Amino acid sequence: MSIKTNQNYKNLEKNYLFANIAKKVNAYSAAHPDQKIIRLGIGDVTLPLSKSVIEAMHKAVDEMSQQATFRGYAPECGYDFACKAIQKHYLERGVELALDEIFVSDGAKSDCGNITDIFGDNDILIPDPVYPVYMDSNIMCGRKTTLLKATQENGFLPMPDAIEEKKSYIIYICSPNNPTGAVYNKDQLKQWVDYANETESVIIFDSAYEKYIHGDYPHSIYEIEGSKTCAIEIDSLSKTAGFTGTRMGWTIVPHELICDGDELNPMWNRRQSTKFNGTAYIIQRAGEAALSEQGMKECEQSIAYYMENAKLIADVLTEKGIWFTGGISSPYIWLKCPNNMKSWEFFDYLLNELQIVGTPGAGFGSQGEGYFRLTAFGSREATKEAVERLRKAL
Ligand code: MLT
Repeated sequence: MSIKTNQNYKNLEKNYLFANIAKKVNAYSAAHPDQKIIRLGIGDVTLPLSKSVIEAMHKAVDEMSQQATFRGYAPECGYDFACKAIQKHYLERGVELALDEIFVSDGAKSDCGNITDIFGDNDILIPDPVYPVYMDSNIMCGRKTTLLKATQENGFLPMPDAIEEKKSYIIYICSPNNPTGAVYNKDQLKQWVDYANETESVIIFDSAYEKYIHGDYPHSIYEIEGSKTCAIEIDSLSKTAGFTGTRMGWTIVPHELICDGDELNPMWNRRQSTKFNGTAYIIQRAGEAALSEQGMKECEQSIAYYMENAKLIADVLTEKGIWFTGGISSPYIWLKCPNNMKSWEFFDYLLNELQIVGTPGAGFGSQGEGYFRLTAFGSREATKEAVERLRKAL
């Protein structure tokens, strides 16, 4: 066959991190069918969708069953009602957005991966460790990536003064960070915004965990002065409203964001209207309900439940003298593997000996080696059982 393939794929790990973990867990499970495995690996929620969300979905399903209210193709960039709900959500933080700066999608992962479409061959700056989609999607299109070390010493919050070559980059920032749970404060984000404006860089700000923030930290990059000329923001309802299987997120591209003489907003609009046919009506109605006042109250209850799980995990680690961070403004606990174990070694130990699944820190970047991530998204019962197993074994 003489068809050429994308050779950049050869530079990727064979499997996506979470697919790799699922494969290992499935193999273990097939070989040990009687063992009860507790999954605290991928950040997948376990609580059902809230009452407001379910009611909105039922209503939307009924509308789809009637000729008069049936909907076909959704607007590619989102129904007005969904964009308005998102606009209001930002306004509550003092951030004003035009409706056409909001692009509804099927989640942050897709948008993080797809955003590369509107950029040319730029250098990319990625914190290490971080959500692996940033790195993988840029490797897929052959971009040159520079890593910025996030370490215990810098509180897992690398700053622009650590950049060796001061120039223009596409800069990925995830705050609260996945996997470490570290959150940038206003002053730190201002330094990033200033760096980006000064060097004509673009920040891609992933705020998927903003609803977990505890304390006085920015929830959106647009709370920072000067950010609209340098930042795109990607957010999702996956972790906020339990939409991991329901799928709705959004990307904000401000009109002020101009690169190389081109406004990025119409480019993203062109990209989405060409390659995406919109998020389903039923789902956008669900998202609208999640973002309503009552919907947000319900989200907060679920988040409080998960954060109690985080506390249970944190307590056992404290008791055992195992260093960890996170679990305060994030549903993830980021711990140092005991006995100087490497990340995958600890993964194997937990799976084989305690039947607990976590995520090896090394999967998020080389600086994650020796660390491990546990999620608080399990059920209370499963989390308690995992904690007991850890208490006995560690
Ligand atoms: C994670 O576990 O890091 C996330 O759930 C993955 C994702 O959001 O795609």
